[in-house]
Amino acid sequence: MSTERIHVELVGITKRFGTFAAVNDVTLTVPEARFVTLLGPSGCGKTTTLRLVAGFYDVDEGEIRIDGRRVNDVPPDRRSTAMVFQDFALFPHMTVFENIAYGLRIRRFSQANVTRRVEGVAQLLGLQGTEGKSPHQLSGGQQQRVALARALVVEPEVLLLDEPLSNLDAKFRLRVRTEIRQLQQQLGKTTIYVTHDQEEALAISDTIAVMLDGRIVQVGSPFDVYYAPASRFVADFVGTSNFVEGRVIADRDTTRVDVGGITLTLGPRGLPAGARALLAVRPEAIHLMGPDESCEREVENYLGGVVNARSFMGSRVRYWIGAGGTEWMVDVHLAAPSRLLAGEVALRIPQERIHVLECQEK
Ligand SMILES: Nc1ncnc2c1ncn2[C@@H]1O[C@H](COP(=O)(O)OP(=O)(O)OP(=O)(O)O)[C@@H](O)[C@H]1O
Ligand SMILES: [Mg+2]
Repeated sequence: MSTERIHVELVGITKRFGTFAAVNDVTLTVPEARFVTLLGPSGCGKTTTLRLVAGFYDVDEGEIRIDGRRVNDVPPDRRSTAMVFQDFALFPHMTVFENIAYGLRIRRFSQANVTRRVEGVAQLLGLQGTEGKSPHQLSGGQQQRVALARALVVEPEVLLLDEPLSNLDAKFRLRVRTEIRQLQQQLGKTTIYVTHDQEEALAISDTIAVMLDGRIVQVGSPFDVYYAPASRFVADFVGTSNFVEGRVIADRDTTRVDVGGITLTLGPRGLPAGARALLAVRPEAIHLMGPDESCEREVENYLGGVVNARSFMGSRVRYWIGAGGTEWMVDVHLAAPSRLLAGEVALRIPQERIHVLECQEK
């Protein structure tokens, strides 16, 4: 086991606006040089959590520690954090140079040091040549870089990024998010990143903390969160899932679930007989076969079905298949337009791809 140094620690923090707890008993550990993402729907408390870490709000309960030191009462400019705001919040009347230099000016750096540091980050972020311009003369992507430069120039130990890509168009966002991740790894900078975009979170994070209603509902690697969601909410918010509910039939070594009309075999899971189980299956986990494709019909979890609808999405096709009293979403990579399926089909659901979300004994 590697011993990672804990850099930022949130211990049971709560923040109320009036009686409403926007952040409710949140505990999270951020190791040094890691990229941790707060992911959740609008209003779940992501920005508020980030502002608490930065020191722009005071916590009502709990403790924030940076480098093992309690910082609840430490002002923002003495926390060794820097935040990039969702709307960039650049100063419109200042040049790019002065925008980047701002944090150094208030820390009373000498002119020579200001110039050296601003030129350094401008180069790092590919902003050379824009220093004399004002923000409105820049593209959205360049403004985003200026916002990042302004945070990096003070050489914070912890970088806090609040949906920094939301103003960029979709394609450019993919590119810039990869750059942010590369830069973070290159600098080894501890980062807390906020997004409501699950794909973005999966793509760039070491760890994802999924939030709902002011609470963290799951913490894990992108793989954990995607393949082993802790709840129906996570399974639905991070990616898409089919959900089926049924009653467990325990059969010596193997667990089966009767989901009304059909029985799904799960393999050895040790679930108690008679319990109600909620199962999740990702659309890409299901095999879809046309009428001409031979398949061993004795195989487990094989269902005959019919295509109710389909949607062409470029590299893949999403089907909605009626089978066994349920409508299943199935995603298929399309080899050729002639492979589009209609009418009668068959499904096979590999048992290892059936995830048990809940199991309650009655
Ligand atoms: N200053 C404030 N005064 C009162 N309520 C607030 C304040 N700031 C946030 N809230 C409320 O707290 C909750 C969490 O807000 P927050 O901005 O942290 O959400 P978020 O997860 O960042 O959402 P989004 O994805 O929309 O940015 C929301 O219900 C919001 O209305
Ligand atoms: Mg927000």
